[in-house]
Amino acid sequence: MDSTGATCDTWRMRGLTRLLWMEQNRHPGDRQRLFAAVHETVQASQVLYPGSFVDVAPSFVSPSVTYVDTDQRAVRFFADTAGVDEIIAENRESVFDTTWRFLDADYESPLDVPQGGIDLLISLYTGFVSEHCTDYLAPGGFLLVNPSHGDVAMASIDPRYRLAAVVRCRSGCYTVDDANLDTYLVPKKSTDLTADFLHTTGRGIPYTKSPFAYLFQHLND
Ligand SMILES: C[S@@+](CC[C@H](N)C(=O)[O-])C[C@H]1O[C@@H](n2cnc3c(N)ncnc32)[C@H](O)[C@@H]1O
Repeated sequence: MDSTGATCDTWRMRGLTRLLWMEQNRHPGDRQRLFAAVHETVQASQVLYPGSFVDVAPSFVSPSVTYVDTDQRAVRFFADTAGVDEIIAENRESVFDTTWRFLDADYESPLDVPQGGIDLLISLYTGFVSEHCTDYLAPGGFLLVNPSHGDVAMASIDPRYRLAAVVRCRSGCYTVDDANLDTYLVPKKSTDLTADFLHTTGRGIPYTKSPFAYLFQHLND
């Protein structure tokens, strides 16, 4: 035990936490820039991030984030609460009270999250989050989604959503743009887009324009 009371096990755990974060943050600051650009537009106070793995960058800008994943490396990472707090404290954009929690859970099953209590739902490289988690989103709340696993296409045919903006990335800088939205989500080939089709392919469809991500707004019921 050292003078701070930390044991060898604590230091081993802290080392693993750092390694996982360094790998996640291999393009330094990339996710921080993404979430900062989105936060400027959306100002979400309650964020839900299913399939987060160890991407804690939303906590650098948002006051309350719930992370969800089943991967055992993520479970170990978030179990080191002091290590995660340290990473957040080192990176957050300004000093503000921030809370986070981690659910070792399958986002396709009911989560311990209040229905309608979330302002921003994040779906990045993770599957059909919009299909399973939209009920947690408040009316008027936003879904940040990228196209890689088909969730953009899924949200585009979900009557609970409307496209509100796109997130573009140029040379590592992210911008949120709500102009000319009718020129996005135009398929390159005509496709009979259904949820079954997307479940079968597990992928998105090619569009004539390819922004990094999209912001959909959850419509009032
Ligand atoms: C490719 S990683 C993406 C991680 C992170 N979203 C990012 O963009 O860096 C996908 C993550 O989603 C998690 N995942 C996939 N399906 C899941 C499910 N049904 N419930 C919880 N986590 C899931 C995996 O365990 C994995 O950590």
